[in-house]
Amino acid sequence: MKPVNPIQMLIDEHVYILKVVAALGVIGSTIENEETIDAPLFARIIDFMREFADRCHHAKEEDLLFPAMVAMGVPETGCPIGGLLAEHTRGRTLIAQLEQGVEQFAADPQAGKRLIGQAIVGITALYPNHIWKEDDMVFPMAEKLFDAGQLDHLLDDFEAVERNKSAAHSSHIQFANDLETRFGKL
Ligand SMILES: [Fe+2]
Ligand SMILES: [Fe+2]
Repeated sequence: MKPVNPIQMLIDEHVYILKVVAALGVIGSTIENEETIDAPLFARIIDFMREFADRCHHAKEEDLLFPAMVAMGVPETGCPIGGLLAEHTRGRTLIAQLEQGVEQFAADPQAGKRLIGQAIVGITALYPNHIWKEDDMVFPMAEKLFDAGQLDHLLDDFEAVERNKSAAHSSHIQFANDLETRFGKL
């Protein structure tokens, strides 16, 4: 269903990001004892986190929502916007670390699994907390700041991000739902 406002669109996207993070948590809980890793699954998860969570979702926040809040007088640095931007950067670093661990596994399984495990611990600590801050603190603040016209304008801009940056949006949503069926919820 089409969200009625752009803030709801971001809240809906968080649900899919959390499904993938939950699956990572399950995978991470047993990785130490596994003899092998499911490299294609990791590749698909990394693709989701880069395409859907970062290029599509974070882009809406970083390029559109946060600047619109700054234009309405919210400080660009410090809490909350500066902190959220730093967490996006940390998320990118952790996904790169996850990818590095998967690549390292072939040459050195123990070191690869260690790196994957550390990245997953970081990811599962970061995202639920980050999403909670946005859903419960920052988005309600944004909804108070913007009038109906500004929200409509933001929704148009968000829809343009999807057209431009993530043609595979619905396949990412399907993937997140499939992971929830396979691994369960957070
Ligand atoms: Fe965010
Ligand atoms: Fe977000």
